[in-house]
Amino acid sequence: MAPTPNELPCQKTTLTDMRTSKVADVEVVLVTGGAGFVGSHTIIELLNVGYQVVVVDNCLTSKPPRKGETLPAVLRRVQDITGMNLDFHMVSLLDRQALRKVFLLYKVDVVIHFAALKAVGESVKRPLDYYHNNLTGTITLLQVMSEVGCKRLVFSSSSTVYGSAQYFPTDEEHGTGVGITNPYGRSKYVCEQIMKDLTVADKEWRVVLLRYFNPVGAHESGLIGDDPLGVPVNLMPYLAQCAVGRRDVVHVFGGDWDTPDGTCVRDYMHVVDLAKGHNAALAKVSDKKFTGAKAYNLGRGKGISVLEMISAFSKACGKEIPYKIVGRRRGDVRRTTCSGTLAEKELSWKSSRTVDDMCRDVWRWQSKNPNGYE
Ligand code: UD1
Repeated sequence: MAPTPNELPCQKTTLTDMRTSKVADVEVVLVTGGAGFVGSHTIIELLNVGYQVVVVDNCLTSKPPRKGETLPAVLRRVQDITGMNLDFHMVSLLDRQALRKVFLLYKVDVVIHFAALKAVGESVKRPLDYYHNNLTGTITLLQVMSEVGCKRLVFSSSSTVYGSAQYFPTDEEHGTGVGITNPYGRSKYVCEQIMKDLTVADKEWRVVLLRYFNPVGAHESGLIGDDPLGVPVNLMPYLAQCAVGRRDVVHVFGGDWDTPDGTCVRDYMHVVDLAKGHNAALAKVSDKKFTGAKAYNLGRGKGISVLEMISAFSKACGKEIPYKIVGRRRGDVRRTTCSGTLAEKELSWKSSRTVDDMCRDVWRWQSKNPNGYE
């Protein structure tokens, strides 16, 4: 039986004993890309409500386990936070045989699929790598799931599928696939289409597509957070690295957008709220009355500008973050804001954390770990 999203931590038994075997009544969730930012925060919520978690990650965009260790640092910290064990396999979704072995070893019940390349600018420069990794990886995963009869899936999609949205807040009725500005975004859109086609062809599949807006923040323990490899491409980790002195100045991409202060507006949401949204989605795909593939927006429904975010973060860290307005970034859109009514109604999920909470938690993480997981 799948735990409900609001259930309190219930199964604090030792999961070590469960390795490679399935325990009755405990669902096994395979998390692809679980060593990443959203994946790692989600695993905490899964462990807290009693799922058994198996992680598959190729560690291309996150730090791999250190020599002689079996888990990447982020997942060791997830174990420390939860007091629970999880299993990790450094496997690429492109490696069909290895992936199949993991599915068979654990008798996986349900999958949350995060693994993807996600740097928008890089995707413009390396479209084939992005399509190969994100599309072929997803197709291979779906094929292996079909073969082993595991047909419940939660997919990490993105508000980027709406392209340059025509109205705000944007709801799930809004068209998708038109005006997407980069290969990363198109790969998410095509994955959604593939999953929809699959559920039409085979009625046993149940898929929830979660369209995230801008996840930021960090776990309140300060033990895990966003730790991109190389120079951050997203705003929040860049701000945080400026605050600890790893970067000099934030480049604000465009001051001439048609917005109140001329900078882009985004619907930022706390990653822990987003993580809890996955428990709600798991409950949905476990509901026998649910069929097909259905999309839900996860966001707060409130947009703030780049300058407002810099100001909020400066307040949280107690120092002015220097910034400089530069040219627009290729592929950016003016504004995103989310209508979260459907998720609230059908998944019983709503974000509760504020922008100040997001900034406080990012600052706690970055100030305690100036060099991330190094
Ligand atoms: C992008 C994708 C989104 C994806 C997310 C995760 C699009 C349109 N959006 O979100 O789908 O899930 O990345 O990687 O494809 N900014 C600066 N300076 C910086 C960095 C960012 O001014 O150094 C600005 C950007 O112009 C943007 C805002 O900050 O207005 C947020 O940028 P970012 O954090 O990169 O996220 P998105 O581009 O919104």
